[in-house]
Amino acid sequence: MSFHSGMLRDRVALVTGGSRGIGFGIANTLAELGACVAITGRDADTLSRAASDIASRDRKAMPIVADVRDFEAVVASVDAVVSAYGHLDIVIANAAGNFIVPSAEMSPNAWKSVVEIDLNGTFFYARAAYQHLKRSEYGGRFIAISTAKAREGWPGCAHAGAAKAGVYSLIRTLAAEWGSDDILCNTVSPGPVGDTDGAVRLYGDARRAEQEMGSIPLGRFATIADVANCVAFLCSDMASYVTGADLLVDGGRSCGRAMHR
Ligand code: HXC
Repeated sequence: MSFHSGMLRDRVALVTGGSRGIGFGIANTLAELGACVAITGRDADTLSRAASDIASRDRKAMPIVADVRDFEAVVASVDAVVSAYGHLDIVIANAAGNFIVPSAEMSPNAWKSVVEIDLNGTFFYARAAYQHLKRSEYGGRFIAISTAKAREGWPGCAHAGAAKAGVYSLIRTLAAEWGSDDILCNTVSPGPVGDTDGAVRLYGDARRAEQEMGSIPLGRFATIADVANCVAFLCSDMASYVTGADLLVDGGRSCGRAMHR
């Protein structure tokens, strides 16, 4: 099951946190659909292996080392993409940090680290990419990967929940401010994604995973491809009237408990 292969031909996309997990899946899917992709992250070796993997299938991919918390590095990464490919049409703010710690035990620095990655990092990329997205001949796209938990409390992950709620608001503000620049801004909010480090950490023990799965009407965790396909749709011309939306990819989890499980 896939979109047609030229759907994103000649578009240039930057995916933060693109060397592993959901970010890598998104970068790979966008490249498969014809986009030239740049992936950012903190580890040069992991990034370069991921970019070679994508490029080995006759697609264009470049690795860029940049920590989303460092605005100068963010600007430099955007500039590097534009000098390599000539333009920038799509930014996927995917990089995220998270770990479980009760609020009463969370150090101020733990809070700060996650908020800086998830919320500041998203704003920094939006700010750095704006002028380029505005010039996109396809209409710019800025998509942030959030979580269904941004709409509710998230016991054990107060930092990530609050940061993602901030992202939710930020993206809606950008959609309103940048609509006249033809830049579409949306969030994609997955529930638990089975094949990621994050899910292993959060739902690693079998009893928790089973409990969580029981709350999902579709009866399974999402796959990375489930998420990447939704992102691809929002990057495509098929979504040209969608801005300020949050696309929930949670198997119906937020609708309440599954009745038949
Ligand atoms: C308590 C912790 C901790 C833990 C780190 N800290 N891990 N506190 N429990 N498990 C604290 C540290 O003690 C320190 O505070 C502060 O957080 C910063 O930690 P550092 O290791 O110095 O930070 P840094 O090297 O910048 O690493 C960032 C990180 C790290 C977020 C803390 O975990 C990371 O980079 N993770 C990789 C990315 C990631 O987590 N991806 C998963 C995303 S999943 P002190 O006070 O000691 O200085 C996701 C959604 C999941 O976002 C959705 C599932 C449904």
